[in-house]
Amino acid sequence: MDSASGVSLPASESVSAASPKKVIIKTFGCQMNVYDSERMTEALVAQGYVETTELGEADVAVLNTCHIREKAAEKVYSDLGRLREVKEARAREGKETLIAVVGCVAQAEGAEIVRRAQAVDLVVGPQSYHRLPELITRARSQGEAIVETEFPEEDKFAALPAQRAPKAATAFLTVQEGCDKFCTFCVVPYTRGMEYSRSVNSLAEEARRLVERGVREITLLGQNVNAYHGEGPDGRAWSLAHLIRHLGEIEGLARLRYTTSHPRDMSDDLIAAHRDEAKLMPYLHLPFQSGADRILAAMNRKHTADEYRRLVARIRDARPDIALSTDVIVGFPGETDREFEQTLGLVREIGFAQAYSFKYSARPGTPAANLPDQIGEDVKTERLLRLQELLESGQARFNTACVGKTLPVLFEKLGRRAGQLVGRSPYLQAVHAEAREALLGCVVAVEISAAGANSLSGVISAP
Ligand code: 5AD
Ligand code: SF4
Repeated sequence: MDSASGVSLPASESVSAASPKKVIIKTFGCQMNVYDSERMTEALVAQGYVETTELGEADVAVLNTCHIREKAAEKVYSDLGRLREVKEARAREGKETLIAVVGCVAQAEGAEIVRRAQAVDLVVGPQSYHRLPELITRARSQGEAIVETEFPEEDKFAALPAQRAPKAATAFLTVQEGCDKFCTFCVVPYTRGMEYSRSVNSLAEEARRLVERGVREITLLGQNVNAYHGEGPDGRAWSLAHLIRHLGEIEGLARLRYTTSHPRDMSDDLIAAHRDEAKLMPYLHLPFQSGADRILAAMNRKHTADEYRRLVARIRDARPDIALSTDVIVGFPGETDREFEQTLGLVREIGFAQAYSFKYSARPGTPAANLPDQIGEDVKTERLLRLQELLESGQARFNTACVGKTLPVLFEKLGRRAGQLVGRSPYLQAVHAEAREALLGCVVAVEISAAGANSLSGVISAP
């Protein structure tokens, strides 16, 4: 149900239309948080709230947080310091401000957040977002902070209102949540819980609605998206490849992508989908984390460097032009210079079009945090710089190789310069071109004329 259809609610829970309450949501971290923030906004808008981008105007301020690395988690506390000042300033004007911390920091730290930042009124874990409006009402009337970090039985996706009219030609769709892989460095299995896949029918319905509202490209999201095993219309568990083929039948949908995948779950049918399914874009984010087998074992990654190499060869066999992206960690406990060199070696061998690289960050409660031989900050910094230099040169090489080619580009938004639009190539590169605004949401052939570090530019080919 969307905001326009009007939801009937008990008077105490709805917001008077005369003075609608304003909400601001700040999002940290991954694409799943972006999707979740959208859905929370929808739940609040359905209750009469309006969105604002001005912090000083917000009656409700929500921080949707990320706990994956220490820096991300600490950022929340510095933001909360600022929010407290805003809350106090508004209080002097007689206005109330409710501060909610949601997401993975909320799940991991729970009541500790209220202890450290007393201005916080509400702490809500990722599995309870559908209860946000009700919890806000309760926190307001009760005058005492509420902490809600259970993993409830009910399906939050079913309980959240449907996606609003999207503003863009692209959208995220969460198909799977949680992870059972337990990599020893990672908090996800603890903050997002065990793997859970949504049913094919509910996803197809949501995808169809998105397409009806103008979306041309959908990115299927999951912490471990290729482990997807949702219930199909036939009552059986469907694989991600099966889901992709099914969604590919939606008329008007031009492109499908998915992220993030684990090498162990890269099944034959998914590899085949990259060969056979025209709407599935030739781009794959496939983290390998380290090029050293001893480190991979200590990370509990369940694959070796050689298995990763062979997997990439099979994928490239099915789809030779596929662009690969990855995640890499440097300075995992005990990582030697030689082991770090093996990581560089694997990067050189595979040739990534794109990558994210991180210094290992010890996360409380994860097994690797207690390992001996934690690596010093200086060594991590030096390794990260060397790795990033290599990754950037790989990305530049991939982009430069596109010059002279004609690529189908889905135009998504206005460019910074007048008369210019920005879109994405099949390989997820940003592409700038002179184009009429009417081409927003269209897939157009663009001849690539120049490549930068992070984007391409080109000219629309004559029809
Ligand atoms: N330290 C550094 N990087 C991490 N990642 C996950 N946990 C940690 C950690 N503790 C990285 C991994 C993962 C990506 C989302 O974040 O590379 O694939
Ligand atoms: Fe974390 Fe990904 Fe490993 Fe799951 S597979 S534990 S989400 S790094």
